Amino acid sequence: KNFKRPAESITQSAGFVYGVPRLGIPHLWEADAGVGVASQGGPDVRGATALPSGIATAATWDLKTAYAGGAMIGSESRAFGFNVQLAGGVNIMREPRNGRNFEYGGEDPLLAGKIVGAQIAGIQSNNIVSTLKHYAFNNQETNRFSLDAKIDDASARMSDLLALQIAKEEGNPGSVMCSYNRVNGFYACESDYLLNQVLKKDWGFKGWVMSDWGATHSTVPAANNGLDQQSGIPFDHSEYFGAALKEAVQNGWVSEARLDDMARRVLHPMFEFGLVDNPVSPNVKSINFKANGLISQKDAEESIVLLKNDANLLPMAKFYKKIAVIGSHADVGVLSGGGSSQVYPVGGVAGYRGGPAVFPGPMLYYPSSPMKAIQARALESKVTYNDGTDPKAAAALAAESDIVLVFVNQWTAESMDVPNLSLPDNQDDLVSAVAKANSKTVVVMQTGGPVLMPWLSSVGAVLEAWYPGSNGGEAIARVLFGEVNPSGHLPATFPASESQLPRPVLDGYPEVKDARITVNYHEGAAVGYKWFDLKGHKPLFPFGYGLSYSDFALGDLKAEVKNGLVNASFSVKNTGAVAGKEVAQVYVAPVTAKWESPKRLGGFQKVDLKPGASTTASVTVDPRLLGMYDSASKTWKIAEGDYKVTLASHAMDAKATSVTVHLSAATVDMQGKLVK
Ligand code: BGC
Repeated sequence: KNFKRPAESITQSAGFVYGVPRLGIPHLWEADAGVGVASQGGPDVRGATALPSGIATAATWDLKTAYAGGAMIGSESRAFGFNVQLAGGVNIMREPRNGRNFEYGGEDPLLAGKIVGAQIAGIQSNNIVSTLKHYAFNNQETNRFSLDAKIDDASARMSDLLALQIAKEEGNPGSVMCSYNRVNGFYACESDYLLNQVLKKDWGFKGWVMSDWGATHSTVPAANNGLDQQSGIPFDHSEYFGAALKEAVQNGWVSEARLDDMARRVLHPMFEFGLVDNPVSPNVKSINFKANGLISQKDAEESIVLLKNDANLLPMAKFYKKIAVIGSHADVGVLSGGGSSQVYPVGGVAGYRGGPAVFPGPMLYYPSSPMKAIQARALESKVTYNDGTDPKAAAALAAESDIVLVFVNQWTAESMDVPNLSLPDNQDDLVSAVAKANSKTVVVMQTGGPVLMPWLSSVGAVLEAWYPGSNGGEAIARVLFGEVNPSGHLPATFPASESQLPRPVLDGYPEVKDARITVNYHEGAAVGYKWFDLKGHKPLFPFGYGLSYSDFALGDLKAEVKNGLVNASFSVKNTGAVAGKEVAQVYVAPVTAKWESPKRLGGFQKVDLKPGASTTASVTVDPRLLGMYDSASKTWKIAEGDYKVTLASHAMDAKATSVTVHLSAATVDMQGKLVK
């Protein structure tokens, strides 16, 4: 649109809003996104540190790791001169084909809300603001600008909105970004229900609502229904909040009080989080990229999920003479997700670029080569690379190798969903051919979310490495060789087929531009494992699943009700031969009361144990997770009765143990406090 960026803005960044220098109010310099300081495409990209994808960080189940990653990217954001980081993506995974699942925290409101909340708090510890986004129900990219998501209030409050609410409570974000789509007939950025009622009134949000880029559609409805700031004006049809807003105030369509409220809402977090007292001033030289890379690497190492490990094929022995590394450009680097969140690597991209030349491309590989990291650990071995494009040639290499590491990937990106859950580009055939040639086949996956694995029974081991970030190659090699014991657990169900999903076919796919489709979230709050439980579907891998090179015993489960709150205590023992981490998961389930599905995740604890060591841990269940939301009273109602408290290592754990507690009828307020 021939729009010229303001001279004061930072080149190839997401946004800029004028401050009021006369009053000492700084400008807002805005950068994407959740995994690091992104650059919009163009000649002058910033090299920054990329964390693993958001779903990877959720797979750590570790709030400290999430906070540390947030603090790190926030510090880079600040050093680049940004005081608003457009991070905090927490749209729960209703749709495993959503192209942006890699940016989010998985399918469970508690896990996603806690992890993303910790990241937001970490970012904001740098005297900058983070957003929380995309508010709300932007759960697929197909027709994201026009689709209407249909869901009832109670289901919404117990699923998507609960994840956002928990992230808001944990992270206290200065700003919330409303999403592109419509919700129950209204654009999210002009939805009185979402903005005024739920966010500002019920959750007590004091900061400002900014629109997503191109998500403002009006002046008067948007202003009166709760939008405080129009973002990315060139993406909208008009400058709705410029002269048009002034006129609307002069005409009385928007009150002066509301205009003051908008300004106050922007200013409040600017003071609260130190943007005014500790203004940003760019100092890129102060960034310690090496140290930051190690923070990203730690996140990746905590996030990699060991899905299968027959006959202890992993960790890899160092005596293999011939190691084959196949596919996914593993010779040059590791994949990243695409779109506005794209972080460009420090020192330039790895030797390969693919995908679309422009947004949401290019398809980037970070120059952290798994193959080089493998070779560095197997100095006596001959490591040979095959690009995997010809399954026959790859199989021939596999046949003459002692062990095969086949890398598969799935590039996902903003603005497009994947057509199905199969790996693209014939990679299933590649894995099958390789596994047929050599049973010692290890599959290393870099995907945006769940994928199908038709070859699963024929391979020896599988690692899900997500998009592992700046130091991903190193993290993968360390897990392969056992320098790091894998401890990631799935933050989302991996379905056995698309037919198990609430929507076997993705609504609106393939996309007809601007089609005003309706997506009916008929599954209500039964998202992910809750849906699978309800329907009795057996997934490929359940929510919460993840193996280790060690073994753990969960036991001594006790649950008590204290002041109406359920507290579960238990022990975790490392019964294996190596140090490792287990994620103990506590699920809650009513015996008689009816919920949207049989059980919910009520709490979790990741524990680090030396071989033979044991520890005790406990979790207190947020009482909102024990009730059903009641729209009329805006409270959660806990029904009197028995409730099963289960200690498990994943959502379908046959070794899980349970105890029962009795709860009296109770009411829980919006903030999760028992009121009677
Ligand atoms: C995305 C947002 C992003 C914004 C600014 C939009 O396309 O949906 O997540 O923050 O662009 O780049």
